[in-house]
Amino acid sequence: MSNSYLYIDSIHKKPVNRTPIWIMRQAGRYLPEYMEVRKKHDFITVCKTPELATEVTLQPIRRFGFDAAILFSDILVIPEALGQNLAFLENHGPKLSPQILLDKDIAKLNLQDIESKLSYVGDAIKMISTELSGKTPLIGFSGSPFTLATYMIEGKPTRNFKFIKQMLYQNPERLMLLLEMLTEAVSRYLIMQIEAGVQAVQLFDTWGGILPVHLYEPFSATYMKQISANLKEFGIPVTLFSKGGIELAKQLSDSSADMIGIDWMTDLKEAKNLLGSKFALQGNLDPTTLYGSHEIIRKEVTRILEVFGPESGHVFNLGHGILPDIPVDNVYFLVDTVREISEKLHAKAV
Ligand code: CP3
Repeated sequence: MSNSYLYIDSIHKKPVNRTPIWIMRQAGRYLPEYMEVRKKHDFITVCKTPELATEVTLQPIRRFGFDAAILFSDILVIPEALGQNLAFLENHGPKLSPQILLDKDIAKLNLQDIESKLSYVGDAIKMISTELSGKTPLIGFSGSPFTLATYMIEGKPTRNFKFIKQMLYQNPERLMLLLEMLTEAVSRYLIMQIEAGVQAVQLFDTWGGILPVHLYEPFSATYMKQISANLKEFGIPVTLFSKGGIELAKQLSDSSADMIGIDWMTDLKEAKNLLGSKFALQGNLDPTTLYGSHEIIRKEVTRILEVFGPESGHVFNLGHGILPDIPVDNVYFLVDTVREISEKLHAKAV
């Protein structure tokens, strides 16, 4: 069945007649119909109620006809399943408590029954898959161990990442212990998602870029690669997305992943030269381009699509999540423009 999915074909570098597109955080506050749901239910309730999670997952598919759906959930459901309290404070971002600072805090985290604690995610996946009825593939996801550890240790949004960096330099073994535990949790969680029916998975490493480059491999990349290896036997495409420039993406080049997500800071051409023979690439329009005029959006889309020209192996996306105040009209324009220009570029291949 997966043969008919443009998104999957592009990852496998099969010939395609245009470049597939979906956008990170495509279900969210820039959509009025999402805000309607959120007026009645808080964010965590939406994540934990399969009917609501299904509804908001499908909203951007109905509106824009994206080439992939992504499960509506959040990376922070894992720390909650491990035993931390999770709250999303209005306009203050996520809060996890108590902070993980000492060995005894790690010892209290509980990996047991993590699949059943997160079974609402499996239920949502089954319901979404039924609704998508084989027309659009569903992407499952998790945060990377390092990114999850950042939230678990800091407890709340931070500018200087003081607590995780203190642990990194004062007690690296303690941090590694947490990262190993998270590697198991993430692997099991993603296997549960695959068994429930997702057709691809993506790991988000939002905060790996706060590490000095030489510490990216031992504290983030290595765990992402272990997870990717753990998923290999399931035979579905794995995407690793790191945010922090080409030096980080390069350190994922010995992974068994199928696609590397390229952030908006990185030059896509350079990424293609370094990684394109082994991996498909996803990205990487700067999300704030969508504040610009149609003329600017068209210019940037053209620049990105011309990196691959008629070749397969590219999934168009933003280089990070869409922002809540982006005009919906500009998203329509983006989708139309990607289709129009990439069809022309691919027609030349025939
Ligand atoms: O892409 C999608 O449409 C799927 C849904 C999705 C959400 N979060 C929904 C969400 C995905 C894939 C995520 C991943 C996520 N969550 C990441 C990794 C990707 C990235 O953006 O770097 C991270 C770091 C988080 C943690 C998180 N969740 C933060 C920092 C916040 C608050 C900031 C904000 O934008 O409000 C969230 C909340 C969140 N996750 C919202 C949504 C739609 C907004 C919640 C609301 O409705 O108020």
